Amino acid sequence: MAESLRHPFLQGLSKHRGAPPTAVVIFGASGDLTARKLIPAVYNLSYDNLLPADFYLVGYGRKPIPDDEFRKLAGDAIKEFSRRELNEGVWSRVAANTTYVAGGYDDPEAFKRLAEHIDQIEKRIGRDLQVLFYISTPPSVFAPILQNLGRSGLAGKHLGQAHHAKVVIEKPFGKDLKTAQELNTTIRSVFSEHQVYRIDHYLGKETVQDLLVQRFANSIFEPLWNRNFIDSVQITVAEEVGVGTRGGYYEQSGALRDMIQNHTMQLLALTAMEPPVSLDAEAMRDEKVKVLKAIQPLRVGEGGDVARAQYSAGMIGGKNVQGYLQEEGINPQSATETYAAIRLSINNWRWQGVPFYLRSGKRMARRVSEIAIQFKRPPGTLFAEGDRFHLAANTLAFQIQPDEGLNLVLNGKVPGLETRTQPVKMNFRYSTTFGSNTPEAYERLVLDAMIGDGTLFIRGDEAETSWALYTPVLEAWAAAGRQGMDAYPAGSWGPASADQLLAASKHEWRHP
Ligand code: BG6
Repeated sequence: MAESLRHPFLQGLSKHRGAPPTAVVIFGASGDLTARKLIPAVYNLSYDNLLPADFYLVGYGRKPIPDDEFRKLAGDAIKEFSRRELNEGVWSRVAANTTYVAGGYDDPEAFKRLAEHIDQIEKRIGRDLQVLFYISTPPSVFAPILQNLGRSGLAGKHLGQAHHAKVVIEKPFGKDLKTAQELNTTIRSVFSEHQVYRIDHYLGKETVQDLLVQRFANSIFEPLWNRNFIDSVQITVAEEVGVGTRGGYYEQSGALRDMIQNHTMQLLALTAMEPPVSLDAEAMRDEKVKVLKAIQPLRVGEGGDVARAQYSAGMIGGKNVQGYLQEEGINPQSATETYAAIRLSINNWRWQGVPFYLRSGKRMARRVSEIAIQFKRPPGTLFAEGDRFHLAANTLAFQIQPDEGLNLVLNGKVPGLETRTQPVKMNFRYSTTFGSNTPEAYERLVLDAMIGDGTLFIRGDEAETSWALYTPVLEAWAAAGRQGMDAYPAGSWGPASADQLLAASKHEWRHP
């Protein structure tokens, strides 16, 4: 029996989540993301029988690549990056319907050729296809691609029918509020919002979706999920990797744009939002936007709400690594932060007075993403802190990655003839309960976009609300240059200035 049939989650999935006949067109087909994530996602969907019988993959890029060569590149990408080994039978089904169109992103003639290419497929098979345009290029060509999709008529393909054209847009979605608004304006001049799928791959992660299930499918959390019981919340997205070969991109980005504004804010929105009236895309995204709008403006400078730093030389996994300013492609005077920490206040009934701390950095002590909810300490009447009674604040931590799971710190009695207390941990591990064969974020997101479910994608106003919060910070940092830039040794938990951010309210960063 095929592995997929034994997998409890995938059994029956296709019955409920069938995608219509589809052509996926990838712009940026010879790029890194296509090889690492998109092709393996398509392959694994095929493996699990989640692709429609009529499925076509069309690569589009500036470089002329013959169809055969593109199929070979795709096969190599699966061998290198897929979570499952390449199975020739599975791959050949997709490969047989995989083609490539070469053309510029600002060349209307090339888009006409693309339109003809898709028409020909439809004529040959004698049916209409929904077309999913996946824009996986550098952001400088997002606008020309969108405009050409409009001019060529491709954006309006089969509009008004059940399955019409859709567009998936990769990050970065703008670099500040103004550019995000401009991008939204371009998108809306060509597509309706319901055709648009803005990616934040964190929403495709299993554990991020589990956060919603834990919050809203259990009755024990909701009564406690507010300012009366919660002391503070810490959201960490720490990486061990440095900038590697992405220096050119990273110099223009930095931790705030690359991770905080998008990924950690999504984690925050799901943690702090009110229960939506349903799981449909609009209900969910309405609640996310509401909570994002309740966040107070951030103060920058002395005693403010933000800290930034660059990694200096240090040790990762027992090996010496160089500092950010010595990395390839980095300006030795760079004012780009590789770490950012934020203290947020949400001004609504549920959260007023509860600090939310966010941090993300490269070259940190451990690769770990988690959301930790710290509850208020118990009154120390019976078990006052001392020699015999060691008490921790109850903490519920969602382990997003690695070691996906959930743990809860409680206080318990140490076995023995006198009463001593000690914090104990209850652990739920995904891999232990469900096995470790979890789909990758991109599999879920590509499938959802094909089906037309926008729940796990960012709505235009959501992206703008998040940028509105961070743009003043980015502007202040740009004006200050390197002034106020802290440093932390590679392999550490971040800079002193980030510790000070928490010290004001007597909190400390976790070392998960
Ligand atoms: C990307 C960032 O969005 O997310 C990268 O551009 C970062 O800099 C990556 O490394 C982290 O994603 P994940 O899924 O490995 O946590």
